[in-house]
Amino acid sequence: QLLYFHMGLRVFLALSLPCPVVLVCSHDDAMEGEALVVKCPRDRPNRTITWYHTQTNLPIPAEEGERIFSSGRFLWFLPTAKEDSGTYTCFVCDFSKCTMPSTVSVMVYPYKRGICFPSRIRYPNDTGTLTSGKIVCPTIDNYENATIVKWYKDCKPLQGPSEKYLMREKYLFIKCPPKTDEGYYTCYFTYMHGGNVYNVSATRRFIVEETVSSPILAQIQYPTDNSVIQVELGSPVNISCKAFLGIGKQNIAVVTWNVNETKAEALNSLRFQVDCQFFRESDRRYYGESILNIEKVKEEDLLSNFSCTALNEMGFVMHKVMLQLKAGHHHNTYLIIGILVLLVIIALLVILHHFFQINIVLLCREIFKPYKTQNDGKIYDACVIYPKNRTNEANFVEYFVHQILPDVLENKHGYKLCIHGRDMLPGEGTLLDAANAFEMRILKSRRLIIILTPQLIECEEFAYEHQIALYNALIQNDIKVILLEMETIGDYKGLQESLRHIIKQQGTIKWKEKHTQSPYASNSTFWKHVRYHMPVRHKSSQFSYAV
Ligand SMILES: *[C@@H]1O[C@H](CO)[C@@H](O)[C@H](O)[C@H]1NC(C)=O
Ligand SMILES: *[C@@H]1O[C@H](CO)[C@@H](O)[C@H](O)[C@H]1NC(C)=O
Ligand SMILES: *[C@@H]1O[C@H](CO)[C@@H](O)[C@H](O)[C@H]1NC(C)=O
Ligand SMILES: *[C@@H]1O[C@H](CO)[C@@H](O)[C@H](O)[C@H]1NC(C)=O
Ligand SMILES: *[C@@H]1O[C@H](CO)[C@@H](O)[C@H](O)[C@H]1NC(C)=O
Ligand SMILES: *[C@@H]1O[C@H](CO)[C@@H](O)[C@H](O)[C@H]1NC(C)=O
Ligand SMILES: *[C@@H]1O[C@H](CO)[C@@H](O)[C@H](O)[C@H]1NC(C)=O
Repeated sequence: QLLYFHMGLRVFLALSLPCPVVLVCSHDDAMEGEALVVKCPRDRPNRTITWYHTQTNLPIPAEEGERIFSSGRFLWFLPTAKEDSGTYTCFVCDFSKCTMPSTVSVMVYPYKRGICFPSRIRYPNDTGTLTSGKIVCPTIDNYENATIVKWYKDCKPLQGPSEKYLMREKYLFIKCPPKTDEGYYTCYFTYMHGGNVYNVSATRRFIVEETVSSPILAQIQYPTDNSVIQVELGSPVNISCKAFLGIGKQNIAVVTWNVNETKAEALNSLRFQVDCQFFRESDRRYYGESILNIEKVKEEDLLSNFSCTALNEMGFVMHKVMLQLKAGHHHNTYLIIGILVLLVIIALLVILHHFFQINIVLLCREIFKPYKTQNDGKIYDACVIYPKNRTNEANFVEYFVHQILPDVLENKHGYKLCIHGRDMLPGEGTLLDAANAFEMRILKSRRLIIILTPQLIECEEFAYEHQIALYNALIQNDIKVILLEMETIGDYKGLQESLRHIIKQQGTIKWKEKHTQSPYASNSTFWKHVRYHMPVRHKSSQFSYAV
């Protein structure tokens, strides 16, 4: 019962919103000098509608005052002029987008004395039967408070009210019309706007159907009930619903699309559009076809209930339709594209990381200053060993180890270094003592910096200390080795096995000619690399220093 009440209400609503014969394109005829109000075939609640001259693309002003202006869904000609014949375009828009344009063509007939109303009329026909006829005054709904002055048949004024004619509001009722009552009927009404009175005439053809067939229930030819339509996400889709509504013109004829039980045109979404058309086929079989156009199929549409309802005076039938994703390659294509994109992103990240790793790590240390108070029992951040110059001549390596290195790492960056030869304590005079003492220091360091020069290949004293240090560094793997190649050594062939092993594993940081120009610049690639390999500075090293 409730359902029937509900449907009845909807039928009433559907009827009160007439479904024009052709929605996308409509025609209007007018006499020169009359008022004309033209309606945009499409409408949506709370949307703006803009009008253009189709030929010139010029917008039509949306304020009153001009002879031609627009007001929401309506385009006004107050009054018409001959040159207004042509087509007009309207768009229904929200903030971001508009529906497909609709066009309205307007024909203005020049006023000629002696010729009453133009015969090339495009308003749809009205049909009656031999028992009753009803003619609706076309377009009068577009004019507020218009009053019908007179009805004409084939240019002759009708005398009424009479036995035969009854005029009520926008209707002309004809009692038992014989075939001779067929013809062109014109309603002539006046309309007031802004203090001016305008005349309007609208004509349509009336046809009397001789055979009366008993009404039958509407039949939806397609889609079949509960059918499934294959769609692709993001693509447009048209779903057509064709219904047989009876023999001959029907008094009630509606074919509509509903989405989730709401009329598609009434939805607050511009993605759905409905175009509805009525036509006859052989045998005066009367059909309605309604096409639901979904601009872009979205995920939510797969969950929505679509239904086509066909209605005539016998009642309604409804067919449900579900949308389903097209199975197959597209999903896989998206997946493959997704994976490829992911791989490219990962590759880019790896490359970026490779190139900027050092800078990123140094920046992070700079920003977050992760002074971990870590008690690892170490005293030095790094111990430096280098080949001693036997001739005691001042050379660059000595200068580097005793001036540049401490200045950059100790003074500028707060590391604590032990440098062979600098941090010797008294009593460590002998070679063996010195070697042992230095080995102890290396064990108390977090890093072992080894300066590589070609001298290394000949220097015996160095080789000895070096070997011990390396041995320890390699055994106790918590000491990392940093190799600084101060002069190009070539293929490293003459170096000891253990050193070559480390070089092979981690490479060396090379001092280049360009670094000599500003050796103290701690932002050079050389020093960045060194700092990168140095440990995070520890607070505890400060205390150890003091102790
Ligand atoms: C249209 O706007 C009015 C007032 O702004 C609001 O009450 C109404 O719900 C809106 N209608 C729709 C369909 O959004
Ligand atoms: C109106 O009726 C005439 C005569 O039957 C027909 O030729 C014409 O196509 C009809 N027009 C419309 C719009 O149905
Ligand atoms: C139409 O008529 C109604 C009721 O008589 C009135 O309230 C309204 O203002 C009229 N509208 C115009 C545009 O004259
Ligand atoms: C409207 O029609 C009446 C009678 O037919 C005529 O007197 C009047 O001048 C017409 N008005 C306009 C604006 O054409
Ligand atoms: C859907 O129909 C409209 C006209 O009604 C047409 O312009 C459009 O190309 C059609 N789209 C598809 C996907 O068939
Ligand atoms: C869709 O239809 C099914 C079956 O008729 C119903 O259970 C469900 O509530 C409907 N969903 C919506 C959103 O109307
Ligand atoms: C219809 O209902 C379903 C289920 O509630 C929802 O996911 C979908 O968004 C609704 N569709 C529309 C157009 O509102």
